[in-house]
Amino acid sequence: MTATAGENLRADFSAVDGYNGVNPAFVNRGWLRQSPFRPPDCLKPMSNATVTFADIEAAAARIAPHAHGTPLLRSASLDAIAGCRLLFKCENFQRAGAFKFRGACNAVWSLSDAVAVRGVVTHSSGNHGAALALAAKTRGIPAHVVVPEGAVATKVAAIRAYGATVHTCAPTLAARDAMASGIERATGATMVHPFTNMAVIAGQGTAALELIRKAGAIDSLIAPVGGGGLIGGSAIAAKALVPRIRIFAAEPEGAADASESLRRGERVTDLVPDTLCDGLRAAIGAINFDLLREHAVQALLASDAETVAAMRLLWERLKIVVEPSSAVALAAIVRHREHFAGRRVGVILTGGNVDLDHLPWSG
Ligand SMILES: Cc1ncc(COP(=O)(O)O)c(C=O)c1O
Repeated sequence: MTATAGENLRADFSAVDGYNGVNPAFVNRGWLRQSPFRPPDCLKPMSNATVTFADIEAAAARIAPHAHGTPLLRSASLDAIAGCRLLFKCENFQRAGAFKFRGACNAVWSLSDAVAVRGVVTHSSGNHGAALALAAKTRGIPAHVVVPEGAVATKVAAIRAYGATVHTCAPTLAARDAMASGIERATGATMVHPFTNMAVIAGQGTAALELIRKAGAIDSLIAPVGGGGLIGGSAIAAKALVPRIRIFAAEPEGAADASESLRRGERVTDLVPDTLCDGLRAAIGAINFDLLREHAVQALLASDAETVAAMRLLWERLKIVVEPSSAVALAAIVRHREHFAGRRVGVILTGGNVDLDHLPWSG
């Protein structure tokens, strides 16, 4: 049994808005701004391109008819435990159960009709695969998702349930890339990479945009980091709205490539991940690493044991279902509390797709 999306949720949190402290330096550059319908090449990874605050605002408008506005929750008891004021952006209530729908939806709805009709393709055995499948369904176009043999059955079932064609490959990067490229060539489908795609990064930034527009100026923002699509988009949005904000990336000790990359000053891609946080096992992307450095993002580690304890606290105190890849953010705050003491801290709780038959605290 899997807890997936809050598909019926219609959270209305448009009431608190009006924050307009936009840093003009972020407004007028970049490619997404130029047209609401971009040519497909722009949706492929571009190492020398950039995503702007205007791109994120455009993404927010583009996905608004399809994505949920997610609630912002607070808990006095969690504030007391963490020693700061926490504002939880609950993306576990997003469609398909994770923030990933924002980026996938922006990518799908950025395609011209002529390109979209050929469909989209990605490789992901997790939340991005399901999100892209659902985003394609909202547009009535085909989706192909390449998953490795042995992928978690409940996640693959979710991808299928949203209508995508699942293609199974050997569990190696080479096999995965070869199969995805073959599908691109055979079908003309557009590749939507889980975290280096510009439209995906812009879409992921809309969660932080909503958070800050609702909460007003916050001192710090923390989000988990895997490939870095979320933290990259979040940093762009948050720094544009609150230039003095401090941005933190929460990362499992067993997948510490972003921390290690920042420490060494170059991207580290050869660490073998070993963590319960299945959404955070990817190595940080090149453009994503550049965004971390550009926005002075600081990475904070947490152990899996700390993450499970934080997950349990979130279930118990907020009364919501979150997955380990979300809970790592609270774990990092509690472990590194000196960075947050007394501050107003935005926390992106990224998803709630857990296998309820295998909860990490039930042995
Ligand atoms: C629940 C959850 N949180 C965080 C992440 C990390 O996102 P990113 O790869 O954009 O860093 C993922 C990625 O799959 C995820 O599924």
